[in-house]
Amino acid sequence: MTQTIVDEQFHPGTALTFEAFRSGFPACRNQTYLSICDKMILHDDVRASIDQFLDHLALASANRVQHEVRVKTAREKFARLVRVAPETVAAVRNVSDGINSIAWALDWRPGDNVVLTADCEHPNNIYPWLRQKERGMEIRVIEPQPDGAIDEDALIAAIDGRTRVMAVASATFAPGHRSNLAKLGEACRKRDVFLLVDGVQTAGIMDHDLDAEQVDGFATSTSKGLLGLYGFGFLYVSPKWIDRLKPAYLSRPAIVQKTDDHSTMGAFDYEYQPDSRRFEVGSFNLAGAYATDASLDMLLRLGSEAIQKRVLRLAGEFHAGLCDLGITPAVPGSGPRQSHIITLGAINAGGHGFSTDPLIQPLSEHLAQCKVAHTIRRGQMRFGLHAYNNQADITTALDAIGQGVKKLKRT
Ligand SMILES: Cc1ncc(COP(=O)(O)O)c(C=O)c1O
Repeated sequence: MTQTIVDEQFHPGTALTFEAFRSGFPACRNQTYLSICDKMILHDDVRASIDQFLDHLALASANRVQHEVRVKTAREKFARLVRVAPETVAAVRNVSDGINSIAWALDWRPGDNVVLTADCEHPNNIYPWLRQKERGMEIRVIEPQPDGAIDEDALIAAIDGRTRVMAVASATFAPGHRSNLAKLGEACRKRDVFLLVDGVQTAGIMDHDLDAEQVDGFATSTSKGLLGLYGFGFLYVSPKWIDRLKPAYLSRPAIVQKTDDHSTMGAFDYEYQPDSRRFEVGSFNLAGAYATDASLDMLLRLGSEAIQKRVLRLAGEFHAGLCDLGITPAVPGSGPRQSHIITLGAINAGGHGFSTDPLIQPLSEHLAQCKVAHTIRRGQMRFGLHAYNNQADITTALDAIGQGVKKLKRT
């Protein structure tokens, strides 16, 4: 039985207030959640959307084609969020999937190179290139700036006639500086270099216009600011490149089909999809698609410009409050480098989840007791804000940090 699904579409188009949005997050009621750079929290509407999917499974009330409508609408909504055409977006699993897809699809030759800042990138934007190194690609490692931000001028200066790719995060996962994508995009376009962005830290939080930024590829999962689920993500690929990219893996979604009802058999005279769908592989993470379809709906209703404005304002206030407490954050509190991520302490004084900085580790324990959710990355205490955060969160976090610092000074 394949009846038409008439699921709720979560009021597309109507405005949503930030306070109403916040009220749908149970996590915001029992803690001060400042850890989006680690992982998403679940909104009630997102849970309801996943429940719809599970109900359909339980009742056998929908088939795969019907479920895949939610992949299509999620793709379209993500495209709208980052201001690109829907067909330029592929539904993938995560950042690693997107980055590896491009690394294997580019027609590079041994001796060609990729330019990146190893010190600033998540390992999932380094291992894909180490794999290509085994196949003859040179990795050009550029030093970061002393404050831990990427050095756009040095990255551009490292490009030569054999550079095929520049790989960069839209914001570093720590310390959290935002990258100047438009500057890199312009330089890469002029030199026919593929600018591949690991966008997971900023997607859904910072306002992107991937066309204007001249980004060629943008890989993200939905497990952070897009407020979806682990194991579902997007890969944007510029139409300027698509004809030059041959996917490493091939299965039905990547091939032009005569119908979209899955009735076409495999054929020897296949043709790649003319757009980013050529990077889609096999069946989708449908729970992820249902989740993201709902979360993107809310993010679009809030508006990406309004989200960025609110988040940067709150981040600026948090930064100023920390300075008042005598703590200078490791990232700026305003300007183009500012993001939703605020870090404290010396970079690399410790690692993932621990710090050797005499202030950070005990302060982190104190904040955990005060239910201020944060993480330690690269030895730094890290906070990340999103649209659900409000003034009260900032005040609570600053009060807890102030008390913690006082306590530490006494001991
Ligand atoms: C900058 C960055 N890239 C990638 C990832 C994760 O990659 P994936 O989505 O492949 O698990 C993270 C997760 O913490 C990250 O912060």
